[in-house]
Amino acid sequence: MVLRERTDPVILGHILTQHRELHGQISAAREAFAAGHAEARAALAALREHLAAHFRQEERGGFLEESITRLPRLGAAAAAVLGQHGTLLAELDGLIERLAVPHVPASSWERVGRDFEDFCGHLLAHERTENAVVQEGFNEDLGLD
Ligand SMILES: [Fe+2]
Ligand SMILES: [Fe+2]
Repeated sequence: MVLRERTDPVILGHILTQHRELHGQISAAREAFAAGHAEARAALAALREHLAAHFRQEERGGFLEESITRLPRLGAAAAAVLGQHGTLLAELDGLIERLAVPHVPASSWERVGRDFEDFCGHLLAHERTENAVVQEGFNEDLGLD
């Protein structure tokens, strides 16, 4: 039998804040891509730093671990979602590398932009899955879609 406890508001508040900040960084990077090469390069570097810190925190144990403690059957789902971190960072590193040149020709620039949008889709899907694991663990709607 699973004992349902009250949701820890501190942990929930922490997740909400972190994921909101991440959404802000993604929006900023999208605007930077619209502005141009130098702007996009700076925004991706900032996003890389932010994302690595966010992932490290999640991996060190925190809310996902807390979810598993409350509902052990979520262990596999939590491990799978944490396993996506390396792939996401590698995808972002690939984009950063393609912008690390003095000049990006127009045709490549369009392709990098599309690949960046794909990356945003992967990252947002990851965050949604993560929220779903946490929601189930806490048996609580975080109010995130
Ligand atoms: Fe994550
Ligand atoms: Fe996350």
